[in-house]
Amino acid sequence: MFSVTEADAVSLLRAGGVVAIPTETVYGLAADITNSQAIEKIFITKQRPFFDPLIVHIAELAQMKSVIAEGIALPPLVENLAHEFWPGPLTMVLPKNKKLNSMITSGLETVGVRMPKHALTLQLIRDLGQPLAAPSANRFGRSSPTCADHVASEFGDSVPILDGGPCEVGIESTVIGFNRDFSKIQIYRPGAITQIMLRKFAPTETIISPVMASPGQLLHHYMPDLPLVLLKSNLHLTVDLYELIRSTLNLEYLHPSWMTLTDDPTLAARQLYSRLREAAQKDSANCIILARTVKKPYRASDPDTSNAELEQAISDRLNKAATLVI
Ligand code: TXA
Ligand code: MG
Repeated sequence: MFSVTEADAVSLLRAGGVVAIPTETVYGLAADITNSQAIEKIFITKQRPFFDPLIVHIAELAQMKSVIAEGIALPPLVENLAHEFWPGPLTMVLPKNKKLNSMITSGLETVGVRMPKHALTLQLIRDLGQPLAAPSANRFGRSSPTCADHVASEFGDSVPILDGGPCEVGIESTVIGFNRDFSKIQIYRPGAITQIMLRKFAPTETIISPVMASPGQLLHHYMPDLPLVLLKSNLHLTVDLYELIRSTLNLEYLHPSWMTLTDDPTLAARQLYSRLREAAQKDSANCIILARTVKKPYRASDPDTSNAELEQAISDRLNKAATLVI
């Protein structure tokens, strides 16, 4: 593994390199927002299409100035959300600064911003003196990395890693946008900051098919190295069902590797991507990963709605990672 110190990471970023950085959600592949070649390197390293915009990571609210549209005061709703949830797993999509490199925003008029909750990365941004653009540090479409080893297994020694230990949250930040007058919140990607938490600040709706609003929300995403088959939680695995899976995936035989998650959604989120990676490596004879969808579908009337929503965020990742859902 190509592990670097925080001081090395600053130098590498100054020299126009990319560095994998720890955050509370997943590891990011970071570049200085003011260095166009470094930004391009992110897309090339990840084999990420240029239509999928990057999130800008800041360490202080003052850094919003160079990122969001010049001359506008922060809408009170944005200020309140930043005050409550930053540093933390919430990305806000806001009008972009004209000077901000349009490769970061894939040509959109908006930019996704967040302040990550990890001491090493906050220090790195402060020492560099510039915000960092960073998508998750995985090859495009694959599972996100939640520890330094995962990053190394994605990119080998070609990417220097600032090792900040395992990620506390384990799934990517909640991505939200706003209506024109910043009186309503729209959730593009569910995450650990849930609708019930956001609703205290403004009416909130979840966008069901957010690809138009948030181009990264493709149907297939987060995919492990073996095809993942997702079973509805109440389905029994019968011989007929085995045969259905085998023939649908056009396999000669079926030697599944089971992936299980704990019931506690906070822990399950933290373990999700490690479990997916482990399941893909268990046994060389394995040809698929089998997993069950998280227990219960989300209902607004659930007593423990925040937990149910976190389960829904995990479900969102599992469904996109799956080759087959039955
Ligand atoms: O937790 C996270 O958000 C991690 C860590 C590294 O911060 N980052 C992450 O980045 O998950 P990425 O690139 O894998 O996902 C970012 C997604 C994009 O795919 C896109 O859907 C949305 O955020 N996004 C970014 N900028 C946007 C914009 N201007 N408008 C709408 N959606 C945007
Ligand atoms: Mg990603």
